[in-house]
Amino acid sequence: NPSSAGGDHADVHLERAVVRWIAELVGFPHPAGGGLLTSGTSMATIVCLAAARNRAARLAGRDVREDGLAGLPPLVGYVTGETHSCVRKAAELLGLGSRHLRTVATGPDGLLDAAELRSAVERDRADGLLPFLVVASAGTVGTGAVDAFGPIADLCEEQGLWLHVDGAYGAFGRLDPAIAHRYAGLERADSLALDPHKWLGVPVDCGCALVRDTDELRGTFSLVPSYLRDEAAGSLGWFSEYGTEQTRPFRALKVWATIAHRGRTGLARDIAHCTALARRLGELVEADGELELLAEVQTSIVAFRHRAPGLDEAALDALNRELPVAVQRRGRVFVTGARLGEREMLRACLLNAATTEEDLRLLLDEVKAAARELQP
Ligand SMILES: Cc1ncc(COP(=O)(O)O)c(C=O)c1O
Repeated sequence: NPSSAGGDHADVHLERAVVRWIAELVGFPHPAGGGLLTSGTSMATIVCLAAARNRAARLAGRDVREDGLAGLPPLVGYVTGETHSCVRKAAELLGLGSRHLRTVATGPDGLLDAAELRSAVERDRADGLLPFLVVASAGTVGTGAVDAFGPIADLCEEQGLWLHVDGAYGAFGRLDPAIAHRYAGLERADSLALDPHKWLGVPVDCGCALVRDTDELRGTFSLVPSYLRDEAAGSLGWFSEYGTEQTRPFRALKVWATIAHRGRTGLARDIAHCTALARRLGELVEADGELELLAEVQTSIVAFRHRAPGLDEAALDALNRELPVAVQRRGRVFVTGARLGEREMLRACLLNAATTEEDLRLLLDEVKAAARELQP
């Protein structure tokens, strides 16, 4: 029953190794100590955004740990309508206030638009606010879209903003040569949150926070009272100095087993299988007169809806809102729903390499059968 807070035992060394492996798999820089495992991306996001907040306050002459946020102009972060809710939750918990998260307009592809971002940042600066954070996505929850990191990173560098990337679902997609180009510039982010418990298939709970500047993380969380002193800890100290948890579970073992078992090549093969199947599912949807593909298949999420003939937009929305549960109740396949812009949609997320083309056909047959049940 070890605690992976720190100390000189196998779990701590294994966690250092697997965090480095994860960084190497997704192509993120890894200074020694530059990350830790968390319960999931929600917690990893809190960890990364806390470091971003503290850096911004320090640059503005305040020490948040000592003084809190009082006296600072509002710190402003930039997200899109596709950003996962865990970012807002983190902003609320960190005292930033969700109304200081600006929703930047996206292009038709749902991607963060660097020109819109620049205008929003400039507007806020002119109003005396303190822009500090941009959150981009390596795989949005709705459609699996990957933001164009290059121009966003350029702007962040120029404006001194912390670039955080939510790669919870999609970061490991970089392992697939067919879509790796979409991730160009990810390595320029200040922090990256991702979930081995999604595409790597590591059992829940297992997220990971990676940061470019270890000192920002340690400076945000390190507290070493006398009863936690460890003269033998070495220069990196304890994991509990880099995040919120003191006593920490041995998450590294299941990550180690997963990566050691499949290897980089095996993981890449599994992921490429999922993205190829997702593209195939997109083709099947497009070829089917009853269905409509709602977004380009960028990674392994397929966003689509049923288009029952003779229904107006409101009725189509009502039908597609009900469809996911109707499909689930039939008990053969599982698909979730979400809102994409103004439309209700179904969202098939392919993460299991055992999936076959037959499963895809079954999924679409089940969706159409469930739609007939709802619209006899
Ligand atoms: C894009 C994205 N971000 C963040 C999260 C939150 O991650 P977790 O549930 O591991 O906290 C999820 C999924 O749950 C997600 O898909």
